[in-house]
Amino acid sequence: MHGTFSVSHQIEPAILYFGTPVVLIGSTNEDGSFNLAPMSSAWWVGWRCMLGLAANSKTTENMIRTGECVLNLPSAALVGAVDRLARTTGSDPVPSGKRMRGYRHARDKFGLCGLTAMPGETVAAPRALECPVQIEARVAHVHEMAEEDAVWRGNLAAIEVRVTRVHAHSGIMMDGEPNRVDPDRWRPLIMSFQQFYGLTSEKLQRSELGQIPEAMYKPPGWKPAA
Ligand SMILES: Cc1cc2nc3c(=O)[nH]c(=O)nc-3n(C[C@H](O)[C@H](O)[C@H](O)COP(=O)(O)O)c2cc1C
Repeated sequence: MHGTFSVSHQIEPAILYFGTPVVLIGSTNEDGSFNLAPMSSAWWVGWRCMLGLAANSKTTENMIRTGECVLNLPSAALVGAVDRLARTTGSDPVPSGKRMRGYRHARDKFGLCGLTAMPGETVAAPRALECPVQIEARVAHVHEMAEEDAVWRGNLAAIEVRVTRVHAHSGIMMDGEPNRVDPDRWRPLIMSFQQFYGLTSEKLQRSELGQIPEAMYKPPGWKPAA
């Protein structure tokens, strides 16, 4: 059905970042100031999200200490702001591994990238108002990754968060559907092998999964806990 195929070779790429949406995690520093950090190892199930983070990132520290964050989803149009945050950290001093990769400390990440901070409604962590989606969340579990690997052990955390509130710009919503994001209007920013992409503007074809009414994914009577 699909015609020819290419021969595959065994490869050993240094990274396996095949393309995922970018998230800007807002968190609160010890002194109450705000941190904002780009990441893209995030996936969603129900009103939960798993976040893959370097253990020594300021964001990881802040999330574990405060138990909360805001997951701001930048559109492809905000690529410039995201890129200005790249190779910066809220950690001071900069951890040696990051220093080797050319990172510098940045205290005012919102000022640096030009986005506007506002505290969440259910969490103190900051929303980035220009992001079309801002998701407030609380830490549910912290899972240490790669425990059996002597080289990677202690460096990676998978943090499960529970969503408490979702904010969205009206411009990405379906007409007449107050709770449905329109995937024809929502243009996520994608990171693939350290480069930025957008999605194609049109659906590729009819979707069988898309025949399921979206409301069926919410258990009857369920309400998010704050
Ligand atoms: C587009 C993009 C995607 C990134 N994805 C991740 C990621 O998934 N996990 C991670 O730990 N770091 C990721 N990084 C690197 C972090 O942004 C970096 O560790 C940063 O120093 C974190 O900031 P913080 O120390 O202030 O928390 C990504 C960076 C960029 C620019």
